[in-house]
Amino acid sequence: MDAARPWKTAWITGASSGIGRELALRLAERGVRVAATARSAGNLNALAASNPLISPYPGDVTDAVAMKDIFTAIERDLGPVDLAIFSAGVWQGMLVSDFSAQRGKDTMAVNYFGVLNALEPAMAAFASRGRGHIAFVSSVAGFRGLMKGAAYAPTKAALISLSEALYPHLARKGVKLTIINPGYIVTPMTQRETFPMPFIIPVEQAAETIISGLSRGKYEIVFPWRIALLMKTLRVLPNWAFFRLVNMGINRRGTGEPPSAPNA
Ligand SMILES: NC(=O)c1ccc[n+]([C@@H]2O[C@H](COP(=O)([O-])OP(=O)(O)OC[C@H]3O[C@@H](n4cnc5c(N)ncnc54)[C@H](OP(=O)(O)O)[C@@H]3O)[C@@H](O)[C@H]2O)c1
Repeated sequence: MDAARPWKTAWITGASSGIGRELALRLAERGVRVAATARSAGNLNALAASNPLISPYPGDVTDAVAMKDIFTAIERDLGPVDLAIFSAGVWQGMLVSDFSAQRGKDTMAVNYFGVLNALEPAMAAFASRGRGHIAFVSSVAGFRGLMKGAAYAPTKAALISLSEALYPHLARKGVKLTIINPGYIVTPMTQRETFPMPFIIPVEQAAETIISGLSRGKYEIVFPWRIALLMKTLRVLPNWAFFRLVNMGINRRGTGEPPSAPNA
């Protein structure tokens, strides 16, 4: 096994754009065969045209049957998958004033249940073979609920919790699990937003950091370091101190909510 290329065949969800796409390109450049999944077949075909080692397997992660079928098709066409990176995800801001149960459920359907759907066939195959590497793309947003994160943060907290529950048991079966917790990365997801994004980094840098961490078999890849330090600190603070800091931020910058209607 080549130290620079510890995997032969990778399955990446969310590969049509942003972090997943960049990982697909960079793994293929290193000689890894990549099965690329997302809904937009056109973007996947364009990606596959850029490197013969990339193959498109379009599908929606919210469809559990489709994820099983895609995994079977990948192994039939490309051989055993030994790296599965689940990066498909959506961001939707939500505050008290625009709270929507449906938006929360839609975000959970992709970011958490979508990972479960893809995980089931991959984990079963890896566990039965006693090898393989699974990675969830979560976020530092999963450490603490913060501004506008009422729909998104719970989905990422769920992934972090899931990884903690599975990691020791998978390790005993010879399967690696990595939780990837990025801060802000320049991708179409962040380009659609206008709020301040401290310490944002280019997607190319993010992909290199992720591949380096994966090839070293790290449990957690959290970056860039300044937002990692900030969010890890918020995570371990007692709740009273956390909410005091949040309130200081709100007093300085506002809640993000529209102004309340004046009393009649
Ligand atoms: N960018 C950041 O600052 C940042 C920070 C922390 C964590 N993350 C996480 O990183 C992951 C990738 O985000 P990104 O920034 O690369 O965003 P992005 O450019 O918007 O990419 C999102 C990817 O998810 C796919 N996707 C969305 N819904 C899907 C569905 N139902 N089924 C299959 N694929 C679906 C999209 O493809 P289609 O639309 O073609 O389906 C696209 O390939 C997400 O999980 C995100 O939460 C991002």
